Amino acid sequence: MPVVSTREIVTRAYEGRYGVAAINVVNDLTMDAVLAAAEELRAPVIVQTSVKTVKMTGLEVLYSMWTEMARQVTVPVAIHLDHCPDRELISQCLAQGWNSVLFDGSALSVEDNKRQCIDIVAEARRYGALVEGEIEGFKRVEEMADDERLNEQSLETAVDFVKSTGVDVFAPAIGNAHGMYRATPKLDSQRVSDIVAATGVPVALHGGTGMTPEQFSDLIGRGCAKVNISTALKIAFMKSGYDFMTDHPGEYDPPSIFKAQRSAVMDMAKSHIRMFGSEGKAW
Ligand code: 13P
Repeated sequence: MPVVSTREIVTRAYEGRYGVAAINVVNDLTMDAVLAAAEELRAPVIVQTSVKTVKMTGLEVLYSMWTEMARQVTVPVAIHLDHCPDRELISQCLAQGWNSVLFDGSALSVEDNKRQCIDIVAEARRYGALVEGEIEGFKRVEEMADDERLNEQSLETAVDFVKSTGVDVFAPAIGNAHGMYRATPKLDSQRVSDIVAATGVPVALHGGTGMTPEQFSDLIGRGCAKVNISTALKIAFMKSGYDFMTDHPGEYDPPSIFKAQRSAVMDMAKSHIRMFGSEGKAW
């Protein structure tokens, strides 16, 4: 296979009503672990990179890591730039070979967001890349009061944004947030159905960490074909390192701690792939 367009991965998931795990990686070890999990379960997967990870690693180094690792897998995989408000970085990632980008114009007026998004969609088409759009932004759980809802736009505004920009995937606010929820979030699943019915465009479910299996299956059934997971990876990666050092005091052997971390990240990725119904969906 192995690198295919994000569009093909998401379209198949949307049509088959399963969810593709879109997992934010932070370095080479976590990228490798996510790809290994997908390979083991014969699942398509989207590897996501935050702006922070791109800047920390360096765009060329990160992309070289990706091409070399992806070359060795036999399931469909793609690389995606998550939440990027930086127009220039979007262009750089598209030119480098990223398969998709999320233009985060949520801090802009909807009209400005729309104008820039139309331009990005045209640019991405030249590379065969997919564009995800958002108009509401996602806060971190810690920044939100209990039951706080984001500044939701009307359904009409959301539908008009999707239709007039031509984005391939839309990320609406439905009561979700990034980080670890204090309690099971109350999600407006009807909003997903309404957007999908009005646009026919797949929805990206953000803030996946901490949602229940029932919420995932309900939302995926309604058209959330791309399911984002980030915090769960960070927890698996950091906690397994901490636990290893606690259980093996004085054992300063990097390969041993890396092995424990790889295994923890793989387990986390596999459990989400299974919950999203994408196990065995590789083609
Ligand atoms: P979590 O960190 O809550 O899993 O959210 C991930 C996400 O939506 C990345 O865009």
